[in-house]
Amino acid sequence: MNNIDNTFPQPPKERFFYLETYGCQMNVADSELIIGLLSQSGYRKTDDIDQADVIIFNTCSVRKHAEDRVLGRISNEKQRKLNKPDLKIGIVGCMAQRIGKRLIEDNSGIDFALGVDNYSQLPSFLAALDEPASFTDMNESEIYENIEPEHQGSTCGFVTIMRGCDNFCSYCIVPHVRGRERSRPFEHISHDVESAGNRGLKDITLLGQNVNSYHFQEIDFPILIERLAKINSIERLRFITSHPKDLSDELIRVMADSPKICKHIHLPLQSGSTAILRKMNRKYDIDHYLTLIHKLKAAMPEIAVTTDLIAGFPSETEADFEETLSVMRDVQFDYAFCFKYSERESTAAAEYTLQVPQAERLSRLQRMIDLQREITLKKFQAQIGKEVVVYIENLSRKSSQQVSGKTDDFKIAVLDGSEKDFGKLVKARVISATSGTLICQRQA
Ligand code: SAH
Ligand code: SF4
Ligand code: F3S
Repeated sequence: MNNIDNTFPQPPKERFFYLETYGCQMNVADSELIIGLLSQSGYRKTDDIDQADVIIFNTCSVRKHAEDRVLGRISNEKQRKLNKPDLKIGIVGCMAQRIGKRLIEDNSGIDFALGVDNYSQLPSFLAALDEPASFTDMNESEIYENIEPEHQGSTCGFVTIMRGCDNFCSYCIVPHVRGRERSRPFEHISHDVESAGNRGLKDITLLGQNVNSYHFQEIDFPILIERLAKINSIERLRFITSHPKDLSDELIRVMADSPKICKHIHLPLQSGSTAILRKMNRKYDIDHYLTLIHKLKAAMPEIAVTTDLIAGFPSETEADFEETLSVMRDVQFDYAFCFKYSERESTAAAEYTLQVPQAERLSRLQRMIDLQREITLKKFQAQIGKEVVVYIENLSRKSSQQVSGKTDDFKIAVLDGSEKDFGKLVKARVISATSGTLICQRQA
């Protein structure tokens, strides 16, 4: 915030850190905090791993695959110590919280592990790099009010509005590694959004594991977002993630009434079977979910809905799975992130008997992905002929004469342009579509 604490320990000589980020947007935002913090503490960020004195992995534990990737990276990078004995490798984030201590004890190649919400200690850790490997646990009340994040993008930004999660969905590791839910004060969030906008980040996404339960004094989420949407320095406001059990009519009203709030909602369904939702401890049934979809579309006919789905949760039968496919056909999600269930130690679902065999999980996942691909293609093709407003973010990957960006409803769009268009809102007409991109023509 405004009065940054500049008393963090400074390194004895110029030191470079290299940071690699895994997991969700929360980790991306935390990496921006870490970069801000280390830069204020005299360290320099490098994108060249060969130059690094410290390599930091900001890790994710949500599925086994996420952890395996980082373990593979550590095992590759630790070879560098043969030629550079002073090099230090550390992990932060959710996996550091979950198994950091174990990894240090097992001599897996890391020199430090800093649990979630203890990043303020990172400069002291790095200042004492010659000490033996160490682990620091989570600080459950941390909300990082004295650290200014260093946004890495130049057009879009994340602003964390709350940390932790109290929902304990039975499959999920997040509440175990990120601690209890806490909301940041309104003034701090509003300061962050405004200053991000002033730095040219016009498309802001508010982050929380369940933004609908944001609460600070008398301010709940609809009040928060309605106030933030009045900030002049930004053009677009988005938020993730909404838990269906807490999505209120008032939020739908505020979304419909505020032109700056994007007409897109990410509303994780997880399963189309009420019996499975109960075992997942999601606290809603399919009727409730479909009623929400109906209300959202009634208030904002153009709204895009995206979701998360899990295939092969314990005890999921073929009939349960078919119910998920059937809800996917009914709702016609614009996009769905589909995951194969992964047991996470210490979560309730890992103890359930009747785990679905891996091969079956995989084949259900594939069926889900195939169905969603068809639906997404249809949804994208339905945009052909429409006028959209694209916020230009990058050069297109395919051609340097083209730029890409997002529509208000979170679809990637490509059109002719150049770097001069970055950060501009451009009117365009959709002329064709694939299942991931709208091809557009600029309008006068
Ligand atoms: N807080 C958000 C998302 C958290 S994790 C929410 O409530 O929606 C992102 C997604 O990962 C979840 O929505 C879920 O679909 C998936 N996920 C979480 N734990 C999982 C597990 N053990 N196996 C497979 N997918 C999982
Ligand atoms: Fe995990 Fe559920 Fe919390 Fe989302 S709401 S982070 S899925 S426990
Ligand atoms: Fe996010 Fe992965 Fe942690 S999804 S909250 S980085 S476990």
